[in-house]
Amino acid sequence: MTVSHGGTARNPPGRPPARPVADGTEPDPARLAALASAYRKRTGLTQEELSDLSSVSVRAISDLEGARARWPQQRTLDRLVAALGLSPEERDEFLRVARKDKVAKPPVDPRAVVSAPWSRLPAGTGHFTGRDAELSVLAGLARSAAGGSGHVVLLHGAPGTGKSATAIRLGHLVAEHFPDGQVLLDLAGTTDTPTAPETLLGRLLSGLGVPESGLPGSLAERVDLHRSLAQGKRLLLVLDDAVDTGQVRRVLTARPGCLTVITSRRDLADLDQVTRIRLGGLSPATARRLFESVLGRARAVGEEQAVEKVVEQCGGLPLALRIAANRLTTRPHWPVAHLAEQMRAPRTALATLTAGDLSVRGAFETAYRRLPDSAALVFRHLGRGPAETDATRVAALTGTDPSQVRPALDRLHAEGLLERFPNGHYRMHRLLHTYAGLL
Ligand SMILES: Nc1ncnc2c1ncn2[C@@H]1O[C@H](COP(=O)(O)OP(=O)(O)OP(=O)(O)O)[C@@H](O)[C@H]1O
Ligand SMILES: [Mg+2]
Repeated sequence: MTVSHGGTARNPPGRPPARPVADGTEPDPARLAALASAYRKRTGLTQEELSDLSSVSVRAISDLEGARARWPQQRTLDRLVAALGLSPEERDEFLRVARKDKVAKPPVDPRAVVSAPWSRLPAGTGHFTGRDAELSVLAGLARSAAGGSGHVVLLHGAPGTGKSATAIRLGHLVAEHFPDGQVLLDLAGTTDTPTAPETLLGRLLSGLGVPESGLPGSLAERVDLHRSLAQGKRLLLVLDDAVDTGQVRRVLTARPGCLTVITSRRDLADLDQVTRIRLGGLSPATARRLFESVLGRARAVGEEQAVEKVVEQCGGLPLALRIAANRLTTRPHWPVAHLAEQMRAPRTALATLTAGDLSVRGAFETAYRRLPDSAALVFRHLGRGPAETDATRVAALTGTDPSQVRPALDRLHAEGLLERFPNGHYRMHRLLHTYAGLL
């Protein structure tokens, strides 16, 4: 576990020329059309290709670009934002402009909104094991947040390392300190359509008692109303699977009495005033306990060596351990040695680690697909060298020099795909390393 505070600024990605948008509610369909068309042309996609990619009809896209879309739906806008690969700032402007042609609603009086305690936390993970150090830090922060100081915490780390499970566990452990609610909202950051900030605020406002008809149209109004309604409430909010800082920034204030826990694979380096906790892998002993807990102690008896091998191949990754154990619990006649044999080589281990809708490879794939080209290239090269390496060796593999590969290595670290050590070494998790080698 690594705990750190604060953050550094990162440059926003490039974008097409934009002009500032004034606040207000006058219709501006021409501006929306211009933006939609400029962003599409930048990607080199035709309207038909964008339609395929986004699952938005050609007609809807054409109406948008022809300034004929009076009421573009939020879902349509979210899909276009994802397919066009807009930066957080671009997305905000696009959505702000899209909403301007809607009729302004009379402002909701926060004093007239009746909030009931809001409980929306999934059931805790069965067989939850370990994470004692992290949970003790988190519980301490929760107590001091509830006691009046308020806190924002980011749990970040590799795919499948247990960020969501740990946040949910925390929620149940400290629920009593947050009488106004314990809530988890899924921000879908690892999907193609992450939740837009206005949708997130809409969900928060609904949960706090604002009727659908009273939800303000503009992001700024939603932010203001949320601020007023959350004032004085003792609420634990888990923003699960955040994609970037822009998605969550507007709901974050370390309000007295509130604890906000963000989970993300990314380290969200441009988020200020946050306590960061990086979740690493489980120790071999804890990993074994988790595996045996799901499997059942009785089945492990006499198969100690096989258990050891399976656990070793999972490399302390909770997702892998759960899947491996699930494979056995759904096959009561299999000896553990049979699974150990299937997982003997790293490649077959990766192929084996799929059960129902859980898949280690699938989790890695969603992370890899989001990488910028330079980091993706280095990621693939890393799969061909040793799992532990440094910038000089990676540069030799890619035929460049260390100063050129370092930003890509740091990006992979920021995405939770690479560990970084003070001596300048980097290490990739064994399963990730196998996956990278297959690309
Ligand atoms: N400490 C733990 N004990 C037992 N099971 C765990 C633990 N941590 C995670 N798991 C299980 O491992 C799987 C992956 O965990 P989780 O979904 O929390 O990972 P994540 O880091 O949030 O992944 P992602 O990056 O995809 O969001 C889940 O099935 C979860 O229940
Ligand atoms: Mg998660």
